Order: sequence, then C-alpha cells, then structure tokens
Amino acid sequence: MKVIVVKDKKAMGKKGAELIAADMKKKDRPYVLGLATGSTPEPVYAAWVSMCKKGQIDFSTVITFNLDEYVGLKPTHDQSYRYFMNDKLFNHVNINKKNTFVPDGMARDIETSCAAYEAKIDACGGIDYQVLGIGSNGHIAFNEPGSSLGSRTRKVKLTANTIKDNSRFFKSMKDVPKSAITMGIGTVLDAENIVLFATGANKVKAVADAIEGPITASCPASALQTHPNVTFILTKDAATGLKLMHQS
Ligand code: F6R
Repeated sequence: MKVIVVKDKKAMGKKGAELIAADMKKKDRPYVLGLATGSTPEPVYAAWVSMCKKGQIDFSTVITFNLDEYVGLKPTHDQSYRYFMNDKLFNHVNINKKNTFVPDGMARDIETSCAAYEAKIDACGGIDYQVLGIGSNGHIAFNEPGSSLGSRTRKVKLTANTIKDNSRFFKSMKDVPKSAITMGIGTVLDAENIVLFATGANKVKAVADAIEGPITASCPASALQTHPNVTFILTKDAATGLKLMHQS
C-alpha cells in the first residue's frame, strides 16, 4: 500500500491522472478503467481533459466501467452518474461513448442487469486501474458499512449519513435517491491496480480507519489493505489522522 500526501486538490488530480496515464502507456491493448463520481475525482478528470487536449493521453480505445448509479434516475437526469461522467470527462476527451459503461439505475430486472455488468467487466479482461473516492463513513463505491467484503454488483440501500452527504447536490432531501446499484467490494478488489483519492477534513477519520484500522466491514475501505497494488493519494487536510509510516 502506497500513501502519497499532496498539498491540494490540483496536485492530487495531476498526480492521479499521471499515475494512471503511465500505466495506460505500458499496455498495448484496450485499457479498462474503473471510474468513480462525486467531488473528489473531479480534479483527476480535469487533468485528463487537459492532457488529452495536449495529445498526452489517448482514450480512443479505452473502456470504462463506473462504480455506481442511483436507482430511479434516468441517464439524462443532471444528478445521475452517467450525466456526471459525460459532463466531467467523456464529452471532452476522444473516448468512444459506446465503450463507457455505468450501472443501469432504471433496469427493470436489477439482478440480471447487475450480473450482466459483472460479466461485461470479465469479458473486457477485468479492470486495469480502479479510481475510488471514500465516503465520510468509510464506504467505497456505495458499499456502506456492513457490506460483505466479498460483495459483487448489486442493489443497496444508502445510509442516512450518505443520503445527507449527497443532499448537497439535490434541491431537497426528499429528492435524494435512497438506493443505488453498486459494484461490490469483491468487484473492486478484482481490479489489477486501485487508487483511492481523498480530500477534506471530513474524510480524516475514514482515511485513518481505512489505512491504519482493522480490516472490518464497519469500514469498507479497510478491505483495500488486502490488495497488492493500492495507492492512496490524499490532500494534507485528509491525512492528519495518520500515525504510522507507510512504505509499501
Ligand atoms: C461515487 C462513489 C462514492 C464517492 C464517495 C465520496 O461513485 O463511489 O463512494 O466516492 O461518496 O464522494 P465525494 O467525492 O463527493 O466526497
């Protein structure tokens, strides 16, 4: 496990974007990216947009799988994660949108749709690099505390804490979706490489629990301690709870 502490969000975005771009260059085949939404990865996507304009990164054969989507929001809803990805990344880089996948929050048969999502990831050869944020309660994707560490893509109920955190993006509390489709912790752990980004004082406890706490379903991100290729890129304010020296 590598822990990198940077001064601010812009430095975090640049570091993360370059880390993944370097891995993309090593692989001479369609590259499979796992992507997250939320405020945290926005500087990473902004850095990729700028690199793409300068010809420093090529998304033409990249395949993407997003971690999660709200149940009941159409892809055209401005708070859906599909909309977010188009707006922050896909509309501004040379990606083929047909190669971008987000769980279907409108699926009639959610179970079949989740199994098909897992099968599609497998058919593409698995995820090369998975981007993660972390919830203030330690969730990764929408695997809330109490999720099985081996869980797969499925429908989950969001906790009151997450609904409150996400309400900042909606007109009122009642508009915030109460459930989502999410990749499982087991799905995330299958990625070859993982990078978790965190920023802000409200993530201090979750970050410390994830990196230095016990591996427990009470902090889903702590499962990352079992992964051989995981990097945490943290801004200074999110890293203040760390006490140990992290070497690899
Ligand atoms: C989003 C996701 C979530 C967020 C987390 C942090 O796709 O998987 O786990 O990463 O809720 O959200 P922000 O970055 O908005 O603080």
